[in-house]
Order: sequence, then structure tokens, then C-alpha cells
Amino acid sequence: MPTTFNIPPSIVTGAGAARELPVHAKRLGATKALLVTDEWMVKLGVAEPFAAMLREAGIPTEIFAGVQPDPSAQNVDEGLAALRAAGADFIVSVGGGSPMDCAKAVAVLATNGGAVRDYMGYEKIPRPGLPHIAIPTTAGTGSEVTRASVITDAERDEKMLLMSVQLVPSVALVDFELTMSMPPALTAAVGVDTLTHAIEAYVSKKANAVTDPIALACVDLCARFLRRAFHDGSDREAREGMALAACQGGMAFGNSSVCLVHGMSRPIGALFHVPHGISNAMLLPAVTRFSVRGAPARYARVARVFRAASEAQGDAAAADALVDALEALNRELGIPRLRDHPRMEEQRFSASIEKMSSDALASGSPGNNPVVPTAAEIAALYREAW
Ligand SMILES: NC(=O)c1ccc[n+]([C@@H]2O[C@H](COP(=O)([O-])OP(=O)(O)OC[C@H]3O[C@@H](n4cnc5c(N)ncnc54)[C@H](O)[C@@H]3O)[C@@H](O)[C@H]2O)c1
Ligand SMILES: [Fe+2]
Repeated sequence: MPTTFNIPPSIVTGAGAARELPVHAKRLGATKALLVTDEWMVKLGVAEPFAAMLREAGIPTEIFAGVQPDPSAQNVDEGLAALRAAGADFIVSVGGGSPMDCAKAVAVLATNGGAVRDYMGYEKIPRPGLPHIAIPTTAGTGSEVTRASVITDAERDEKMLLMSVQLVPSVALVDFELTMSMPPALTAAVGVDTLTHAIEAYVSKKANAVTDPIALACVDLCARFLRRAFHDGSDREAREGMALAACQGGMAFGNSSVCLVHGMSRPIGALFHVPHGISNAMLLPAVTRFSVRGAPARYARVARVFRAASEAQGDAAAADALVDALEALNRELGIPRLRDHPRMEEQRFSASIEKMSSDALASGSPGNNPVVPTAAEIAALYREAW
């Protein structure tokens, strides 16, 4: 079966990459810009210098800082209103996955009309969006290079997944220096998201010859640099490695897929507002244990690249060692079990298992898993991970 590989036409990496913003904005024909970010990015003083850079280049720029973590459809509508009020024809996003995903949705709603829910699912967006330059400050979701946008429907407690080539940003400016301010807990949460992207992209039923080497390169970078970035945020080599890993993770899963971990993680995020990477990490060991029999050689390869197993170990032993290593990684990074997370409530969790299991299945992600689960198996995995 043929496979398609979509990434931004320009991906700029390395220290100082973000300072290339005006050059690319001009090249894309920007006349007025909207900078999409969140309040914390403004408070940290990260957002304003990018607006100033654009203004100096003769491109009037307004800032929309109304993006919440796990952006809602309402955030997107507010961003669209800000875009129209500013008369902007160009979008820059500065921040983690939340501002980037919100900006992607604003960019396509501006040209397609309608509401976010109309475009939920796979390749439902007819026209290209406005030009969009994504500048990630976490490492990370990889959203700067993917065709995915995750927007929460607050009324239905559901995280809507949109996957479309029309959502791929025009340019990704991947500047690890912007990630140096991440505190350890955030470094851990977003870093395990990256690792989960790589593992799921590699074991997915949609894995292919283009995404495989990128996914494994990402696992390798996570093995070398995730712990180092967590323990010492000033370690430039580790920060650079994880920024690159995040970008590779995005390239891999955006063109293969995520699987059961992400499928089960989104409902936890929608209902309990546990940070995305943390809910992935809490599910990853149990889901890996469940899924190994569907792709033992692939999990074993991940184990070896992650330095959890040696070449001498057989596939079954290597896959077991991977589960142990993922549990050890969570402990080292201070990621609790589901039941110990402050945002989780046992009664509400138990009462929500049925809805979470059916929402997980409906997202389509579990269908790409090496072992495709039933709703009952998903429910059992939620209980096991608790
Ligand atoms: N589109 C995709 O491909 C994709 C992939 C994975 C996850 N996601 C989505 O991305 C969202 C999560 O994104 P995220 O994990 O990057 O977090 P985020 O964007 O929600 O940011 C979390 C917090 O970290 C702060 N922050 C960001 N950069 C910082 C820095 N350098 N220093 C200090 N603080 C900083 C933010 O201000 C915010 O308060 C979720 O909604 C998730 O569903 C999207
Ligand atoms: Fe993710």
C-alpha cells in the first residue's frame, strides 16, 4: 500500500532558529500577523519579542494570549475573532502543543468557515489554511510538524482529534533555547509524550519505511537525553537533543499514527485535565505489556534502541525489559500511578470507565494498535493502570 509523508516545507533547527521568523514571514507574503500564545508565555516574556521582530520587519502584529492548556473549541473561536479583528492574513504560534494546536485550527477555520467539530477525524478539511509558522517552546508534542490538532469540546468532555494535511504548519522553527526555561516536571511530561509518539509510531499498523528510521532515531535521542534534560535543565546538549526528538516524534507519528496509549490518554485529559504527557506515561507500561504479542520484534527493537535490552536477549525478554524500563523511567521522572495523581478521583474514574473506553475506541487510534482491543479490554487496561 502506498504511504504519504507530510511535513512542513521548511523545518529550521538549532540555536537561534526562532530568530528567522521575519525572513520566513515575508517570504510567505504576510501583511498582518496574529501571534497565538498563552498567558504564561506572555508573562515569561517569550511572546512579545516575536511580535516586535515582526513589527520591525514591517508586519503589524497582534497577540492573542487566550489559549488554555488542552485548548477548547471556545479558545479557537476567540482566536478566530481576534484574527478577524486584527485583519490578519498570517499566524505565528509560540508555546507548547496547546497554542500550536489552537493556531492550526484558527488557520483552517479562517479559510474554510464552520466550526472545529465539522472537521473532526481524518482529512475532512477541504481548503488550505492561512500560512502558519509554529515556534515550539516545549519538547514536546511535535505539533510544529504534524497534521494533527487536538481541541477539547468542554461541553461533551471530549478531546476532538483533527488530522489533515491542511493543518501542517508552513514553517517550524525548532529552537531548543526556548525550551531551556521548562521546569523539571514539565520537561518530564512533554518528554515522555515524545517517547510515546516514537514508540507508537514504530509499532503502529500504519508504520512504514519512511517513518520507521525517524521513530527509532527519536527513541535513541530520548534514551540519551530525556533523563539528562530532566535532572539538569541547563544541559544544552540534552535540551537540543530533546527538541530534535520532539520534532522527529511528530514527523514519525504524524505520518504513521499514534495507537492505544494516546487513544486511552485523551479521555483522561478531557475528564480530569491531567497533562497530556503524564496521562500517556501512566498508561504506557500497561498498554505496552498488553500490546507486545501483536508486534514482539518491533517492541524488542525499541527496547534495544532504548538501552533496556541487549542484542543478545531474545525478543520476548527484550520486550519484558522494555516494560520494566518504562516503569523505572516513570519513577525516575516523578510520574505517579494514576491513583496517586492529584487530579484523579477514584469514584469519578470508576464511573467514567465506560465513557472513556468508548471515546477511546471512537477516536480511531486503538485501531492502529498492534493488538486491536475491544471496549472491555480497554476498560480492563484503565483498571490495571489505576
Ligand atoms: N498536534 C499534535 O500533534 C499533538 C501531539 C501531542 C499532544 N498534543 C496536544 O498538545 C497539548 C499539550 O501541549 P504541551 O504538552 O506542549 O503543553 P502546553 O502547551 O499545554 O503547555 C503547558 C504549560 O507549559 C508552559 N510552557 C510552555 N513552554 C514553556 C517553557 N519553555 N518554559 C516554561 N513553561 C512553558 C505553558 O505556558 C503552559 O502553562 C495537549 O492539548 C495535547 O493534546 C498535540
Ligand atoms: Fe502526544
